[in-house]
Amino acid sequence: MSYKLGNLPMSEGGKNAWDIAMEVSRQAGGILMHWWPKTKQVFNKGLADIVTNVDRECEDFIRGELKNHFPSHGTFGEEGFGDDPNEGWVWVIDPIDGTRNFAAGIPHFSIVVALVKDGDVVVGVNYDPIHGEMFHAAIYQGAFLNDERIRVSNKLKLEYASCGFDPSNGPAEGTRSTLQVVRKLWPYLNTTRTLGSSALGLSYVAAGRSDIYINHRLQPYDQAAGLLLVEEAGGIVTDRQGYRARLYSDGIIAASSPLHHDFMNLTKSTPWRRPSSRANNPKET
Ligand code: IPD
Ligand code: CA
Ligand code: CA
Repeated sequence: MSYKLGNLPMSEGGKNAWDIAMEVSRQAGGILMHWWPKTKQVFNKGLADIVTNVDRECEDFIRGELKNHFPSHGTFGEEGFGDDPNEGWVWVIDPIDGTRNFAAGIPHFSIVVALVKDGDVVVGVNYDPIHGEMFHAAIYQGAFLNDERIRVSNKLKLEYASCGFDPSNGPAEGTRSTLQVVRKLWPYLNTTRTLGSSALGLSYVAAGRSDIYINHRLQPYDQAAGLLLVEEAGGIVTDRQGYRARLYSDGIIAASSPLHHDFMNLTKSTPWRRPSSRANNPKET
C-alpha cells in the first residue's frame, strides 16, 4: 500500500501521526531537560546495560500520550516492551537512546518515536533535546532536520568517509568483530565516530553528517526511526547479508548506495558479515 500524508492515521483530535510523533517527542524532551542537571537514579539491567528513573518516566509519558491520541494503536518500548511491532499499528519508543551518555552527563542522546504498520516504519522521529534537533520522516514524504530537507552524503568512496559505529548490546562476538572490521578497513576510511547513540548515528547518516553507520545488532527501538530517515534521505539500509533492514534485522549498515556497495565489497568474508543467531530467530534481542 502506498501512504500519502492523508493516509497516515489521524489522532482523536484530528492531527496526523507525523505531527503527533514530533509533538510528543518534544514534550518528552522537556522531561529529559528537566532531569539533565539533576542526580538520576541508575539501575543495572544486564551486562553493560543500564536504565535510569528518567528512561522509565519518559517512556510512561510517551506511551500515555500516544494512547490518548491513538487509543486503538499498540505500543512497544524499550523499558516496558508491549505489543508485537510486526502486527498492526504500533508505536515503537526508545525514551532515551544514549542512556549511558545521559547518565554520565555527556550531551549526546535522543528520543525515538516511530509508527509502524505490520513491521514497516511509516513515521520516524528522533529528537535530540540538547541541540533542539528534530530528525523526522514520513514514508514517501522525505526526511527532515527541523524544517530543512536532508540527504545522505554524496561521497563516492569509503576512503573519504566518516564511519559511525557502536559496540552492540548483543553477543560479545558482535562487538569483537565490529572492532576487527574497522581495523581491517583502516586506512580505507577517513575517520570513525563512536558516539553512544545508535539512533543519532543513523540520523546523522540521513543528514549527511556521517557517511556510513554500522552496528552488529540493534533492537527495534534503536533503529525504528533511523530505518525510515535514511531511506527517505536517499540512502539504503541493509542487514549484514545485504537484505533490506527491518525492525529485527541481523545487524545494520546505513549509507548512500556507493558507500554501501564499497563497504560490502571490502568486508566480504570477514567474521562481522557472518549471520548471527538472530538470522534464524528474528526476535532474538
Ligand atoms: C544503546 C545505544 C548504543 C548502542 C547500544 C544501544 P540505549 O541504546 O543506541 O549506541 O550501541 O546497543 O543499546 O541503551 O542507550 O537506549
Ligand atoms: Ca536504544
Ligand atoms: Ca534506551
